[in-house]
Amino acid sequence: MTSSMAQEESTPLGRGLDLRVLARLLRYLLPYAPWVGLTLLFILIGSLARQAGPLITKFAVDDHFRPGIVDGFDTLVYIYLGLLILQFALGYCESWATNMVGQWAMRDVRMQMFRHLQRLPLRFFDHTPIGRLMARNTSDVDALNELFTDGLVALVSDVVTIVTILSLIFYMDVRMGLLTAVCLPVSFAATVWLQRVTYGSYQEARTRFASFASSLQEAISGMEVVQLFGSEDRRSRSFAHSNERYLEARLLASRYHSAYFPSMEMWGGLLLALTLWYGTGQISKQEMEWGVLVAMLQYVPRFFMPLRDIAERYATVQTAMASAERIFELVETEPEATGSHRPPQQVQGRIEFRSVSFTYGDTHGDDAEWILRDVSFTVEPGQSLAIVGATGAGKSTVVSLLCRFYEVQKGAVLVDGVDVKDWDARDLRRRIGLVQQDVFLFAGTIGENISLGDPELSREHLEAAARHTNADRFIRPLPKGYDQPVGERGVSLSAGQRQLLSFARVLAANPEILVLDEATANIDTETEMWIQDAVGRLMQQRTSLVIAHRLSTVRTADTILVLHHGEVREMGPHDTLLAKRGLYYRLHQLQYGEGKSA
Ligand SMILES: Nc1ncnc2c1ncn2[C@@H]1O[C@H](COP(=O)(O)OP(=O)(O)OP(=O)(O)O)[C@@H](O)[C@H]1O
Ligand SMILES: [Mg+2]
Repeated sequence: MTSSMAQEESTPLGRGLDLRVLARLLRYLLPYAPWVGLTLLFILIGSLARQAGPLITKFAVDDHFRPGIVDGFDTLVYIYLGLLILQFALGYCESWATNMVGQWAMRDVRMQMFRHLQRLPLRFFDHTPIGRLMARNTSDVDALNELFTDGLVALVSDVVTIVTILSLIFYMDVRMGLLTAVCLPVSFAATVWLQRVTYGSYQEARTRFASFASSLQEAISGMEVVQLFGSEDRRSRSFAHSNERYLEARLLASRYHSAYFPSMEMWGGLLLALTLWYGTGQISKQEMEWGVLVAMLQYVPRFFMPLRDIAERYATVQTAMASAERIFELVETEPEATGSHRPPQQVQGRIEFRSVSFTYGDTHGDDAEWILRDVSFTVEPGQSLAIVGATGAGKSTVVSLLCRFYEVQKGAVLVDGVDVKDWDARDLRRRIGLVQQDVFLFAGTIGENISLGDPELSREHLEAAARHTNADRFIRPLPKGYDQPVGERGVSLSAGQRQLLSFARVLAANPEILVLDEATANIDTETEMWIQDAVGRLMQQRTSLVIAHRLSTVRTADTILVLHHGEVREMGPHDTLLAKRGLYYRLHQLQYGEGKSA
């Protein structure tokens, strides 16, 4: 996974500016168009103010120093000072406006992406690592921001600077202007080449960092398993490998980087020497004024900066383009298809599976690995169905299909006679109270985890739900009660407590259908008792579909369905199935040790 991920994240070098992507990016700036306009204005005036300095020194030399005229010189000094202050003010405003617009636009991108993420089907999350999605919303967005602030705006500023300087040189001395115009592309090409090589090595380092980071992250999140199975050494070896590879890439990048600035300096010095040589030659032939040479000696290094910048921006732009493409790809990922059926009044809670076959993989080709095969059953309103079966039989999958987390490939799942595909997905899920095998707790307080942030849920209602499901029993003794914060990933709650909390969650939402995927974890006898009591209450007057491991839950269900390798093998009430002495009977014997004497 890591290597393919690293590949995906790398930016191909040398590809051009994609105008289509750029246009799409610029659309994010549209709401802030007046600010963007203002920024450009700041850039334009700022550049003029900056580049006027050397021109003033030219006048100082030619009109005052050389002829020895002091009169009017102080005016030049005042203008120079005034320009400095203007430069500062404009520079400040420009940078501030640019960053503001950039940050606003990025906030919009992040929000759009997040909204979209929430609408994606679960299947998408099955095959997309969390780290990748995190990167989309963090580092890729940052790259976009860089594209705007360091990329586009700076690019405009650099081009304006070059054009301004070139015009001023032409104004002072046409031949000098022509010479500069010839040197310019050569300088640029040399700069770009140097820059490319350096950037390429950095890119490689970045790619390797991605693989290094994911190896690190995996090791840390899996620490429990690593220590449990004593696989520290193996982990260390694999970490050392990615660590070394990362080191190599960083060292290579550093080598280029070390060469980069000295060579740039040398190149700049060469151009300066060339100017000096040509200028003094012209001056000795009386074909150029001293002031022009003084101004030129200031302009040449100034020329060089934007050239180098543009070359560097190019890399920024490329990285950002790649980021932009990845973001757009995510935003374009087809959201979960949803129907529009919304029940007119109360939902009855009738569940029907009609010859359902399902696989998590794709169905192309004949060798699809069906997780469910031709599963049919009906649960009438208010009735209960217990599903039993070995681990991996497909029990949780049945639940996922009912909640329409996945779409069935054959057959249909119906709630109240309407195909779940036709239901408004949010509406459907609101009617189903789901207690999953692993209860996910969000960072926040216990109370917030029960209400899931629903503002309409009153505190009384919430506490009543907790009381009714026995969750209250462990919540009240906590130091802060319902306001007790839950540790990261809910580590401060036991499996049983989490289960109880999730019952309260379901009851607070008061859904018409209860779906319970019982945790298999061992739970102490007392909590077990509370759980069973709560389950009994939750099942009252609700259509319930329970995946049960507890004998009491299975027994009291109206119908029991035995699932074996994705197929319905037996179905009926407890006594009938026992009498049949089939699979259920055997499961029953094995799991509960009952009937051994029979
Ligand atoms: N998201 C998924 N992507 C691919 N395969 C999956 C996914 N979820 C489950 N499976 C596979 O589907 C099969 C059935 O899984 P399911 O979770 O429905 O079993 P289960 O009966 O609930 O088992 P358990 O009693 O252990 O909870 C298993 O082989 C499992 O590997
Ligand atoms: Mg399961």
